[in-house]
Amino acid sequence: MSLKITVSKTNALKLSSDVVAVGIVQGASSRKGFLRDLIKKVGKSAAKALRLAEFSGKPGELCEVHTAGRIKADLVLLVGLGEGPPTAAVVRRYAAIAARRAQTARASSLGLTLPAVEGAVRACAEGAVLGAYRFEKFRTEESRAKHNLERVTLMSDERAGNTERHQAQLGQRVGEAVTRARDLINTPPNELYPATLAQYAADVAAACKADGVSAKVFNHNQIKKMGMGLLDAVGRGSVKGPRFVHMKYRPSGSGRNESLKRLVFVGKGITFDTGGICIKPGAGMDDMKGDMGGAANVIALMAAVAATQPQAEIHVLVACAENMPDGLAYRPGDIFTSYQGKTVEIINTDAEGRLVLADALHYGAELKPDFMLDNATLTGAAMVALGERVSAYYTGNEALAATFKAAAKRAGEAMWEMPLVEGLRDKLKSEWADVKHMGDRWGGSITAALFLREFVGDVPWIHVDVAGPSMSDKAYDIYSKGGTGAGVLTYLELINSLIAAETDPAADADN
Ligand code: BES
Ligand code: MN
Ligand code: ZN
Repeated sequence: MSLKITVSKTNALKLSSDVVAVGIVQGASSRKGFLRDLIKKVGKSAAKALRLAEFSGKPGELCEVHTAGRIKADLVLLVGLGEGPPTAAVVRRYAAIAARRAQTARASSLGLTLPAVEGAVRACAEGAVLGAYRFEKFRTEESRAKHNLERVTLMSDERAGNTERHQAQLGQRVGEAVTRARDLINTPPNELYPATLAQYAADVAAACKADGVSAKVFNHNQIKKMGMGLLDAVGRGSVKGPRFVHMKYRPSGSGRNESLKRLVFVGKGITFDTGGICIKPGAGMDDMKGDMGGAANVIALMAAVAATQPQAEIHVLVACAENMPDGLAYRPGDIFTSYQGKTVEIINTDAEGRLVLADALHYGAELKPDFMLDNATLTGAAMVALGERVSAYYTGNEALAATFKAAAKRAGEAMWEMPLVEGLRDKLKSEWADVKHMGDRWGGSITAALFLREFVGDVPWIHVDVAGPSMSDKAYDIYSKGGTGAGVLTYLELINSLIAAETDPAADADN
C-alpha cells in the first residue's frame, strides 16, 4: 500500500497524528523557537529528554520526546539537520529517519515539519517513502507487521497550493521508483531470474508508456544471434537462460527530430551468482541474490525519469543472466568472442559481471551516446578498498568526474573516485586471446574497470562499483536493510547536470 502524503498549513504542536517530527539545526537553543514552545507545552519531561539524549542537532541524530497527552501527538521526534541551511539531501534524510522510527513505533500517521528551504516538500516526500519502506511480500499474513504507516502530513507555515501538492506527488513517485530497486534486490532468486527480471523492466516500460518509455527484450537465441558471446557464456550454465533488455525514454511531447542529449545507463543483472564452476563458498552466498543491484538501479532510474521528465533521450540496458555451474557452463580456459569482436580468455568464472557488462557496453556504444554509465555489484575488492557504504567510480575524464562528484554530493550519496591505473592494464594481457577478463588479486576493482574500458570505445563513460552499498545488513540514513537502491538518486541528479551543461562536460574526453 502506498503512503498517503498531503501538505497542509499546521504545526507539530497542533497536528492530530500519532507521531510528529521536526528537523533541528545543530546548536539550536532550547530557549528559542520550536524547542522552547515544545518544552512550554509538554513540560519538564521534554527538557529532560533533550538533556538525557545530549541532543545537539548533529546530522541524523534522533531524540524522542513522549508527550503524555499534553499535545495531540504521542511522540515527537527531533532529528538533527547539522550546521547551516539544510540541503535537499539533508531534508530527505531527516524525513527518512523520522518515517522509519514512526514505523517501528507502530504509528499509522506522521507529521513532518517542512524545513524552510527550497525543495523541502519533494525531499520530505522522497524521504518519507524511503524511510517507511518494508519488504514483506514473502511473508504470510501472520508474520507481517500489524501496523503500517499510512498517512504523512507535510506541515507548512504557509497555505499549501498546487505547486506544493505537485512537488509532494513528484517526491512520492521518485521515492517509490527507488523502492522498485529495493524490491528487485530483495526478491529471492527462485522468483527473480533473467526472464522475470526482464519482464519486470518491460512492465515498468508499459506502466510508463504515456511518459515516453518503451522496452525491448532479447531472449537467449536472439542474444546468440546478435553475437553477444560473453553474455551467452555466462548465461548458458543455467536452465534459466539469459536476457538482454533495452529500455528507451524520450520526454513525452518531444518531436522525433528534436535534438536531445543521448544518455545510456547500463546495469549488471546477475540474478544469482554462485560463482559458476569456480563456485563460491556457502557462507554468505545468499547475498548473491542481490547481484542484480546495478540492473535494479537503472530500471528504478527509468521509473524516476518517467516521473521527472528530463529533457534528454535516455536508454537503459540490462544484461540478465544467472551464473550457475552445470554441464553447459563456461569454464576457466574457455575463449569467447565478445559482441564487440575482441576475444576474451576466461580465468575465473566468478568474474562474470564484467563479461555481461562488456557486451552491454558495446551495445550502448553503438547507440553513439553523449554519455554512458554502467553500475554493478562488481567486485569484493571495491568493498575491501572503501567499505560497505561507499561506491567506487571510475572515469578517464576529469570534467565528468567532477560533474559526477557534485551530483553525488547533491544526492547525498557516498561515492569515491578511484584511478584507472594505466600500468595495471598489462595484467589483462592473454597468452591465447586478445584479452583476459581479470588480473591477479591486487587492485581487483581497478582491473575490472580497465577490462570494461576495452568495450566503451570513445564514448564518455563512468563505471560505478556499487558492491558495498547496494545491500545493507542494517537500515541507515535513507537506506533500508537489504536492497538499498544506492546510486539511483545520484544518477537522477547527474542527468540534470548533463542536460544543463552548456558545453559538453566530456568534450575533451579520452573516453
Ligand atoms: N558479485 C561478485 C562481487 C561481490 C562480492 C558483490 C560481494 C557484492 C558482494 C562478483 O561477481 C565476484 O564474484 N567478483 C569476484 C571477482 C574475482 C573472481 C576476480 C570477487 O570480487 O571476488
Ligand atoms: Mn561473481
Ligand atoms: Zn557477480
